[in-house]
Amino acid sequence: MLYYGTCYYPEHWTAEQAKQHIPLMKKAGINVVRMAEFAWCKFEPEAGRYRFDWLDPVIAALHEAGIATVLGTPTCIPPQWALQRYPGMLQVDADGRTRNPGARCHCCKNAPAYQALAEGIVREMARHYAAMDGVIGWQIDNEFGCHGTTRCYCGHCEKAFREWLIEKYATEEAVNEAWGTAFWGFDFRQWAEIPLPRTMPTGSNPGHWLDFVRFCSDTQIKFHKAQYDVLKGLCPDHFVTHNFMGRFGEIDYYKLSDHVDRACWDNYPDPWGDPYAPAYAHEITRSFKGTFWVMEEKSGPTGDASTGLLGEQPEPGQIRRWFWQAVANGADGIAFFRWRACLTGAEQYWHGILDHDGVPRRRYKEVRRTGEELAKVAPEIAGTRVEAKVALIRNFDTLWSSERQPGASGLSYDDHCFEMYRAVKRRGLNCDIVDTTADLSRYRAAIAPALSIVTEDLAQKLTAYVLAGGTLVLTPQSGTRTATNAMADVPKPGLLAELAGVTIEEVRPYHHGQTNEISFARGPLIAETCKVGTWVEMLECTTAEPIAECRDEPFASKPVIACNSHGKGSVYYMGVHLPPATLLTFLGSLLPQAPIQDLPAGVEVTQRTNGDKGLVFVINNSRERQPVVLDKQYPELLSGETVGPEVTIAKNGILILRA
Ligand code: GAL
Repeated sequence: MLYYGTCYYPEHWTAEQAKQHIPLMKKAGINVVRMAEFAWCKFEPEAGRYRFDWLDPVIAALHEAGIATVLGTPTCIPPQWALQRYPGMLQVDADGRTRNPGARCHCCKNAPAYQALAEGIVREMARHYAAMDGVIGWQIDNEFGCHGTTRCYCGHCEKAFREWLIEKYATEEAVNEAWGTAFWGFDFRQWAEIPLPRTMPTGSNPGHWLDFVRFCSDTQIKFHKAQYDVLKGLCPDHFVTHNFMGRFGEIDYYKLSDHVDRACWDNYPDPWGDPYAPAYAHEITRSFKGTFWVMEEKSGPTGDASTGLLGEQPEPGQIRRWFWQAVANGADGIAFFRWRACLTGAEQYWHGILDHDGVPRRRYKEVRRTGEELAKVAPEIAGTRVEAKVALIRNFDTLWSSERQPGASGLSYDDHCFEMYRAVKRRGLNCDIVDTTADLSRYRAAIAPALSIVTEDLAQKLTAYVLAGGTLVLTPQSGTRTATNAMADVPKPGLLAELAGVTIEEVRPYHHGQTNEISFARGPLIAETCKVGTWVEMLECTTAEPIAECRDEPFASKPVIACNSHGKGSVYYMGVHLPPATLLTFLGSLLPQAPIQDLPAGVEVTQRTNGDKGLVFVINNSRERQPVVLDKQYPELLSGETVGPEVTIAKNGILILRA
């Protein structure tokens, strides 16, 4: 079943106002709501006294109307009485300032009082709702780490960090060894001497930093897992999820997704931003479990809680397009945020399907029309999934290492991953975004951008993948570090040098926008030149064949891109960041061919399949009408007509082709 939903806050409305909501939802095709994730104070108005009577009739009325309920555990905002009683559960920032209550996400997940209170409310809710008709699932908490709150520097965290280190290293000497504390006299004799990396006169020890951010990520996961266990124990028939934040980089979502039944994320696309950005986050989230939901999907102008600014109004057709873009990339459920704009509170400007006055206008009509379209094609989509032939490895240890030390100004690991992803996507291919632990054997090509932290096991795994016939793409900074964030003491790219058939002779970071010209000696770009900057690595080819080389002195004729054939496969080492157009051609030549090619910028093609049937989605995310040449004629499901091979797609247009 495909879910079409909205985020609903009955606690914001009078009974009279609420009465009008459900029939309107029904008319729009809504079949699920998410509720209650901020309503702890309604559920537990006094310590240990629980009330559900404010919500139960709403769930019942929704159920009566055929609308299912996903409940949020409300743990990101404890009631005020709890904060009065346990002020020590407030977070502390890196400068030692306590984070004040009044908004959300201000409590420390290592504070024992907070852990106990959270467990209490979740257990009571789970008991109460386990058998209630209409309730189908749970969202744990809300956007862990939102508003920069993943990392807390309070006393509870300091204690828990030392315990985490004891578990990992057993002795203080092992920590000293791992972090290389001989540098700047940071040796520890006792666990109690180990601090958190709070704000200090200059940068922290990278080993210390990496373990701290790993610990902060683990803290979130542990807090989540405690709730997951309670919910699965008491409500075995309900699914449990958490709403991730797409590219958010402070929590290892691969590890977190081991403890969800379904992956979800919250999608707030910039109406004029890069159209591949939502696709990237969709594919990140899909890759955790194979399918996903968008638990919050933008349906009106945003209204930032801290700045108080009203964001862009989605243009006609954009809400519908964002919806279909999610489905095209594998979503099986989408809930619009929010049903109706709130009259009070920090998000007064954050609009939903309805404006403040609850009058259904253009956005409501668009949601309704999209709901009708979904109803029409849902039977064809049900049971299909995206099956990608290309994988992009995005690893959190590497992301964190580069957060601390990007290497050159303007370099961002995640932007680099996105730039590589974009080049895949522009070829009309779906791409799974996987961790280093993934089974790569089902992918024809794997791209491992700037994979700096490489262990023996990982190097062996990548080697086996290539030997068996895989195509592996590596980019600057690969293999430079160990698992403790130390620099590798062998020629770069470290443990990947043999596989790549190159060593790095010299690195040139360009901090002031200078560039270097390179020319291609082989491949689809032969004899072409382009300028590269930011970070350039001069290669020494041991067994690899040079593909592109530097033209500028003092490095003229030094290879910067090379290909090494290894077993049945090959490895491409790119020591440069290519400009987008060059990257598109170069990478495109290494990837499997997509059925529909030469896509205009902004036109996205994806496929869902279940073996027997296949659907091809063609979406125009650009601001103009676009011509597309399909590989043949297709039945188009939304219009019921046959289209192709030549088609023109309107701005915000969508084709769903039966393959
Ligand atoms: C999300 C959050 C929602 C709401 C929304 C709009 O990040 O999960 O609760 O705040 O943004 O600001």
